[in-house]
Amino acid sequence: MEKIVIRGGNRLTGEVDISGAKNSVVAIIPATLLAQGVCRIENIPDISDVVCMLRILSQMGAEIKYINKSTVEINTKNVNSYIVPLEMTKQLRASYYLIGALLGRYNRAKVALPGGCDFGVRPINLHIKGFELLGATVNVEKAMINAQADKLTGSSVYMDQVSVGATINVMLAAVKARGLTIIENAAKEPHIVDLANFLNAMGADIRGAGTDVIKIHGVNELHGCSYSIIPDQIEAGTYMVAAAATQGDVLVKNVIPKHLEAISAKLEECGATVIRNDTSVRVIADGRLRKCNIKTMPHPGFPTDMQPQIAVLLALANGTSVINEGVWDNRFRYVDQLTRMGADIQVNGTVAVIQGIEELTGAPVRADDLRAGAAMLIAGLAARGTTEIENVVYIDRGYENFVEKFRALGADIYRKEFEDKEAIKNIG
Ligand code: EPU
Repeated sequence: MEKIVIRGGNRLTGEVDISGAKNSVVAIIPATLLAQGVCRIENIPDISDVVCMLRILSQMGAEIKYINKSTVEINTKNVNSYIVPLEMTKQLRASYYLIGALLGRYNRAKVALPGGCDFGVRPINLHIKGFELLGATVNVEKAMINAQADKLTGSSVYMDQVSVGATINVMLAAVKARGLTIIENAAKEPHIVDLANFLNAMGADIRGAGTDVIKIHGVNELHGCSYSIIPDQIEAGTYMVAAAATQGDVLVKNVIPKHLEAISAKLEECGATVIRNDTSVRVIADGRLRKCNIKTMPHPGFPTDMQPQIAVLLALANGTSVINEGVWDNRFRYVDQLTRMGADIQVNGTVAVIQGIEELTGAPVRADDLRAGAAMLIAGLAARGTTEIENVVYIDRGYENFVEKFRALGADIYRKEFEDKEAIKNIG
């Protein structure tokens, strides 16, 4: 097992390159199941969620060829099953995109319910409703989602709640359905637009992605294509907040600044300087920042996936801040860990009240999920003393080379092997 060890207190300075977007690529890889031909995907991040998704496709019979570290060619011609068992899906929440993609390809999908980050109930009723409106019969048997249709037909799909996953899954299932599908109250996240652009590059006819009405004219066939994944909005935001929390000066490169607007605006409200260039943003904080209030919302609102990270900044800010979590019911589990470092945070349901303190102190903590892990990294970097973070596997799911990237910015951070006596006992 590995821990991350951080000796905190260094001001982050320098430049960091942002990798391709995790939440795009985990949708785009399954989408290759819809193509007849080879898909060449560039700017793929080297993270464990991608390794996991590629492994699933490979086990299904797809040919995966790495052209270089961040470019992969995928040929799904020899995939001949619509069944994906639990052994393949259990580590990856986004494995539910295989349902939409397989339905689109075979009119059938049998996929084990996914794993991934656990922050409370993560229902997929809206995905199922969307498949049913397209003409599929869906039932859940022995933790497998079983969906089938004689044929899929375009339909009007109204989302009761804005859902990234359901919007993507309906797009995947509808892209080859007969006729017109209209998704109303669709999610507008950058990765929705990225998936639509990828599918259109394969010959799909999708319009309106990035607005709340997406129109999909079904096509008979999709071909291979060459496509480059957009930069990761949340990875970029994490480095931006880390720069501000350590009172540093960091140029975050290879980004789309418009995707970062909600984060930039909040950092400015807290007193940081954010300079927006064409493909980079520079974050400078000259001293202690001040409080601000945050409400997380679907895009273009403040992203829930940045909520734990910005909470660390606010824990160190001057004044009392309030965070209102508007997407997930249970995304404050990390607060217990931050409290161990001295943070003063009271949580009541989906609201956290943060009384800023002058300094966090290093402590042994745990990453409870991917973004909670990112928050622990920022806390450790800003704190006085040494922080050791367990459950590093969560952070590896979504942040490419984060130890090297933070170290290049001046952080004192490294990985350390340790013996997990609990795990050994369990195996024994
Ligand atoms: N919801 C339903 N029913 C559904 C689907 C969602 O009620 O069928 C609810 C959820 O319970 C939640 C809200 O709708 O309250 C939004 O959920 P959404 O479906 O948008 O989330 P998701 O697709 O499961 C993706 C990201 C998450 C990110 C959310 C919100 C991927 C693979 N995951 O999850 O990312 O938090 O959107 O933006 O794209 C992360 O990267 O750390 C991460 C967890």
